[in-house]
Amino acid sequence: MAVPSAPTFARPIVTLQSHILEQESRFPDATGALSWILSAMSISTKMIAARTRRARLEDVLGVAGAQNVQGEEQQKLDVIANEILLRTLGGREGVAIVASEENEEPVILRDDPNGERRYCVLFDPLDGSSNLDVCGGVGTIFSILRHDRRARDAHDSLLQKGTQQVAAGYVLYGSSTVFVLTVGNGVDMFVLDPEVGAYMLVEHGIRMPAASKSYSVNEGNRHSFPEGYQRYLDWAQGNGYSSRYIGSMVADVHRILFKGGVFMYPPTAKAPKGKLRLMYEANPMAMLIEQAGGKAFAAPGQRILDVQPEDIHQRTAVILGSADEVDHVVSHLT
Ligand code: AHG
Ligand code: MN
Ligand code: MN
Repeated sequence: MAVPSAPTFARPIVTLQSHILEQESRFPDATGALSWILSAMSISTKMIAARTRRARLEDVLGVAGAQNVQGEEQQKLDVIANEILLRTLGGREGVAIVASEENEEPVILRDDPNGERRYCVLFDPLDGSSNLDVCGGVGTIFSILRHDRRARDAHDSLLQKGTQQVAAGYVLYGSSTVFVLTVGNGVDMFVLDPEVGAYMLVEHGIRMPAASKSYSVNEGNRHSFPEGYQRYLDWAQGNGYSSRYIGSMVADVHRILFKGGVFMYPPTAKAPKGKLRLMYEANPMAMLIEQAGGKAFAAPGQRILDVQPEDIHQRTAVILGSADEVDHVVSHLT
């Protein structure tokens, strides 16, 4: 009789939680604060995913009737997602300050002399929220910085370059819910298993394609782009490029991370400094893209991660994606 062989496992099952703990164990000095914050992001985004799935049933689609600090119409779910994140992060000892796209002022949670090793968490609670009414993909984007206790005030502690980010990520609430994370040593992707209620690791050390003939930009604004972008679009269209644009940064960047191409939000007549926010959108996405082997620029010679922020809500132009495709855009701008 044949001896049954030992069971073979194709691939270990790794959850976001176990992944975070495993990463932490590599740093003997780690206090565990960052792990707690990432676990707050995990539970918050599961809650936001649940609310977006039920949005139509719970009648929470549409505008909340107020504008955010940027003068943009708030959707009801923008407000709900923001509250979930504030409440969850508020309970974590390791968080000193939170700053949200939806709040004019940062919220100081803890500011005591023992707070040496605390963090600042910045987020766009619901990105692409105008896509909600049509069941389009929306997301949450976050960035984590070390709290600078020597800073004069919360703003000063937050105004750090993107290169200082300790971790960054996004969650896409799409046909499935995916959590994409970097803690500065590559990019990993987890998918929410709704039956189990856990994020499962599905891709480790993601490397994005170096080239792909695809661009993602709101071409409706084309005539108010600076000339260089218009020259790039002429060149791309003459060279067999495809256009893909959802209008939700998380969904557009997620596609580019896996399929390659370039995502752009240039300056326009309506938004002369660009529309996207440096600290809640551009910096975390730039860190993820660079960690996956891509490039992220605000202008020729100006890497997004090197921009010195002067205002937590400041905007920037964005060109990010596959290294070769970003080079093509930048070469038309000079
Ligand atoms: P938010 O919903 O957080 O305000 O962000 C919307 C952003 C971003 O997701 C997207 O890339 C961009 O706005 C789309 O803008 P246009 O509609 O002007 O193309
Ligand atoms: Mn956004
Ligand atoms: Mn938003």
